Order: sequence, then structure tokens, then C-alpha cells
Amino acid sequence: MANTMNNRRPMVAGNWKMNGNLDLVNKMQDGIGNLAKQDLDVVICPPSVYLQAFDKQSLLLGGQDISEYNEGAHTGDISARMLKELGCRFVIVGHSERRSDHHESNELVAVKARVALEQGLTPIVCVGEPLSVREAGQVFDYVAAQLDAVIQGVGSTQISQLVIAYEPIWAIGTGKSASPEQAQDVHHFIRKHIAKADEAAASGIRILYGGSVNAANAGALFAQADVDGGLVGGASLKKDEFLAICQAAN
Ligand code: PGA
Repeated sequence: MANTMNNRRPMVAGNWKMNGNLDLVNKMQDGIGNLAKQDLDVVICPPSVYLQAFDKQSLLLGGQDISEYNEGAHTGDISARMLKELGCRFVIVGHSERRSDHHESNELVAVKARVALEQGLTPIVCVGEPLSVREAGQVFDYVAAQLDAVIQGVGSTQISQLVIAYEPIWAIGTGKSASPEQAQDVHHFIRKHIAKADEAAASGIRILYGGSVNAANAGALFAQADVDGGLVGGASLKKDEFLAICQAAN
């Protein structure tokens, strides 16, 4: 059960990564349509080639990344404008797999967040540390640097338009989620850090937890005071499990 001490609308986003097929689109579509009336945002971020196969009336759609450009000679890239045209409301930027596979810097992630906002998409900005940084006791500094780049890139007046996802890299796809206390600790830090730039934005901004969220651990994670839902990878590919995670956020 999500915490009820604030008026932030809970959110669960499913990041399919490079998984899924048309069959899964149809299965999810059926299951999630019923959740649409509930008091939470359920967002599906499939590979972009499947976006058009979804019925946008019954669910929210997001992209997994965007180019920093709106158009041009950038083979293989997809622009915010294109995602918007296909009915997306959200886009993930700065996922750790993009940061590592495609060498995306904090500065590039910040530009992508700004471009998303300019095109009317809500960026879900991912931050989070590798295990070595946690073991060195430098989580807050590491996450602060990631946040500062984005705050600077979008401008302090735009912070309230963002969604932040805290995804410790050591928890992604490993089956080893952060404990609810570890998640709350960093989420609280993120909210306090954002408050230095804009206090009102900090209390309203949604901060999702990501990293091995499943039906069994979602309730305890989402019950934390500063955890407003989840960014779910592997478990978003299993309809019943994903629906159970959504129920835990509701
Ligand atoms: P996971 O992925 O739930 O499979 O750990 C989360 C993510 O990478 O967004």
C-alpha cells in the first residue's frame, strides 16, 4: 500500500527495455485497461516500435530514451517530437544502461530532459550509484552530481515538471532490491537536495524506486514516505506480477 501522507499521485512505470513482442502488447493492454480508473499513473515504456500497437485511451505510454536533437541526420535515433506524435506522455532519460552502453554523461542526460520538456513530454530522470560508490560511502555525492546537472540543464523553474527514478545500479536486474530503508534514505536525500533549488517542487515531485521491484517487495518499498512508486524492468514483462505491483502502489 502506498503511503498516504502526501498528495503526490503514485506512479508505476514498466520499462520493457529491449524485450516483448506484439503478443505481450495485447496481453498488457487487456490487463492494464482496468487500472486506468484507479488513483495512480501506470505508464508502459515498450520498445518504440511497439508504441503504436497500444491503445492510448486506456493507458499512459512512455519512450525509453530520446535524442538530444529534434530531427536530422542521426541514424537510429528517435526524437521527443516523434514520441509525442505517437501519443507518449513520458520518456525515460539517463537510464544506467544508456549511461553505460552509450556513454551518456550527466550533461547529455540533462539536455535530453530539457528537450523532453520543451516537446511536452515528462522526463523520468534516472539516477543511481554503482556498487563501488555505495561501498565507498559516496552515494549522496554521486546522486547529487547527477541531480545537479539536470537541475542546471532544465532550470530551477522546471524542476516540478520532472519525475525522478532512483535506481541503484547494483539492484537493477540482479534480483537484489535495495531494502525499503536504503531506498527511503536516498529518496529522502533526493527530495532534500531538490528543496535547495525549489522547496515547493521538492514536496510535489514524484520519486520512483527502481531495481528488482517485484510483487513481493513492492508494498514495503512503496510504503516509504518518499517513495512514490516504481520503475519496473523484468517484472513489467509478466502481466500478473506487474498488475500486483501496480496494486501495491494504489
Ligand atoms: P529491474 O530493472 O526491475 O529488472 O531491476 C529496473 C530498470 O532498469 O528500470
